[in-house]
Amino acid sequence: MPRLSVWIIRTALLELGIGITIGTLMLWNKGEFFEARIWLLLTVHIELLIVGWLMQLALGVAFWILPRFTHEPRYGSLRRGWLGYGLLNVGILLVILAPWIPHAAALHPIGRLLEVLAAITFATALWPRVKAFGV
Ligand code: HEM
Repeated sequence: MPRLSVWIIRTALLELGIGITIGTLMLWNKGEFFEARIWLLLTVHIELLIVGWLMQLALGVAFWILPRFTHEPRYGSLRRGWLGYGLLNVGILLVILAPWIPHAAALHPIGRLLEVLAAITFATALWPRVKAFGV
């Protein structure tokens, strides 16, 4: 497995852990009310689990598992892969932090834009590897 996939999958697992912890707190709070502000974490829960876990895991596994080239660089553009990984996680961080920082609502669309750029960057890195075996 390439180092990039190792880091992407580790990060996805970390975000799964945090997302589930928040989900557990919300669920606990529903059964036995202790803090209304827990609900402010709902958007963090959704962002971490859908983008940080599901999407990121799919990208990390795709980078590892898609057919490799018979020549170097066998995984295609690693630089673009690392760039996509950085863009995705900075995007997630901005989307999560935006509601908590005063007068920083603009961080939310910027974060989403970075996520879209990450998807485009990964797509351009992975597309050439969608090919017949042995090419
Ligand atoms: C891959 C895993 C998960 C994903 C993608 C996910 C996604 C979501 C989404 C999209 C919502 C918003 C639903 C809505 O507003 O109608 C939500 C709400 C919630 N999630 Fe998760 N979730 C996951 C796992 C978990 C886990 C493991 C827990 C608890 C241990 C949990 C607890 C909750 C709670 C308590 C809510 C609020 C439900 C309500 O509005 O009453 N989630 N989740």
